[in-house]
Amino acid sequence: MAHVPGHVGFPLLGDKSYEFYKNPIQFVEKHIEHCKSRVFATRFLNKPTVFVCSNKGVRDVLADRGGCFELGYKAFMGQIFGDNILFTDGDEAHMLRDALGHLFTSDAIHSYEATVKRIAQRHVASIKDGQSLCLYAFFKQVVTEICLSLFLGLDFLESQEAAETVVGLTTTHWHGIISVPVHFKLPGAHHASTFSKALAAKNELLDFIRKQRSKTSQGFVKRIEEVVSKEEDVLVNNHLLLFTSALVPKGLSSLLTSAAIEVGKPETLHLQRELRTNPQVKHSIYKEIQRLYPPFLGGRRLVRKDCIVDGYKVPAGHAVVFMTYPAQRDPQVYIEPDQFNYRRWMADTPVTEENLFAFGYGPRGCIGQQLVWNIIDTVMNELLTHYQWELLDGQNLTHKYLPVSRPKGSIMAFMRKRASCPCSGSVDHESCCCQVGGSSDAKSQKV
Ligand code: HEM
Repeated sequence: MAHVPGHVGFPLLGDKSYEFYKNPIQFVEKHIEHCKSRVFATRFLNKPTVFVCSNKGVRDVLADRGGCFELGYKAFMGQIFGDNILFTDGDEAHMLRDALGHLFTSDAIHSYEATVKRIAQRHVASIKDGQSLCLYAFFKQVVTEICLSLFLGLDFLESQEAAETVVGLTTTHWHGIISVPVHFKLPGAHHASTFSKALAAKNELLDFIRKQRSKTSQGFVKRIEEVVSKEEDVLVNNHLLLFTSALVPKGLSSLLTSAAIEVGKPETLHLQRELRTNPQVKHSIYKEIQRLYPPFLGGRRLVRKDCIVDGYKVPAGHAVVFMTYPAQRDPQVYIEPDQFNYRRWMADTPVTEENLFAFGYGPRGCIGQQLVWNIIDTVMNELLTHYQWELLDGQNLTHKYLPVSRPKGSIMAFMRKRASCPCSGSVDHESCCCQVGGSSDAKSQKV
């Protein structure tokens, strides 16, 4: 059995974490080239770590057929989120997955649809004909409201002030996830570290969650009480915290923005029509979007017994970082891997969903994936029904990858009202978004 190429170096001195965080894609490309292998060893977070960047290797890790791995997230996020499924393994994790799974069945997701649609409609109606729209900011606003409404029962129209407070708290809480976990607080609130502020925000969010639970008699906040045993009060609150954290809206906005960009280029505008009318093409486009632009670059495991990953022996005690991004561009599996080619999913080729890991795979795969696609589909449908868009010229479309992937700049799109707005002449006409805009011949405003 082959040993993993590369060097784990000396503790502290040999650590490559800084290099990785500075430019993760360059980091893996450099090591792949140097080691002539998509699986290589280095020192990361001061621990001997095997980076797995091949498609087969990532599937081996995530499928975990030999029961070799445990999740490796507690060290980063344990304090900021408190006990939840992401920090459990074995039987406890199985039980939690089974319980939480009831909240994401097809029937459950169907029951969330009306809320998702109502919010998407209102936001799309606020776009003006001829407007230049920042895609990421728009999607982030829509999906943040959707998540807080679905998971906390927060009504943004009735409780505007509370909504603003909660959104602010989720942002402060988020900064703690991406900051160094140093906890200090001097007298006077503004001397606290980012991490301390995040912990304070977490406590305020938990207070808000408790309040919402006590005053709400239906919806997600009640259903989660039914599926996660009532004695496990902390677990109910902590999972509501996890689902309402900024992590989920950021992932959703990342995928929505990537999709809107790929179908908003001069040469791909015809795909907006396909997205609306051709389900097969639509599904293929969404697969290609998650392949090229996974919101989360990868994930981490701890190795509890020796195992084999893509033909290499990985020893117990190491960590494994699985890299979704390079694995989904592995030339062994994908022809012209860096090209956006949705047709690859329609062709008679061996590429299947088994080769996609944007939502994980196997026993710890994402339980919210179906809901995610339902939300994306609803928001996109609403936008496509009323608008066509085109990216403004000369924008830098490159991405940043950490902590959640998204375009580096504010990508702007020119929004043009569709001639066939479905409300035309209906009783709803006055409240429809087609009433909002001005001239539709505003393409000349392109900057
Ligand atoms: C675009 C949005 C999302 C993306 C890209 C995403 C991605 C992922 C990935 C990659 C994993 C696997 C992590 C690993 O194996 O280490 C995961 C797990 C998980 N996801 Fe998602 N997710 C998204 C949205 C959601 C939503 C909306 C929910 C629920 C409200 C959710 C709940 C979970 C849970 C509970 C797990 C852990 C499962 C376990 O540990 O067994 N996710 N997600």
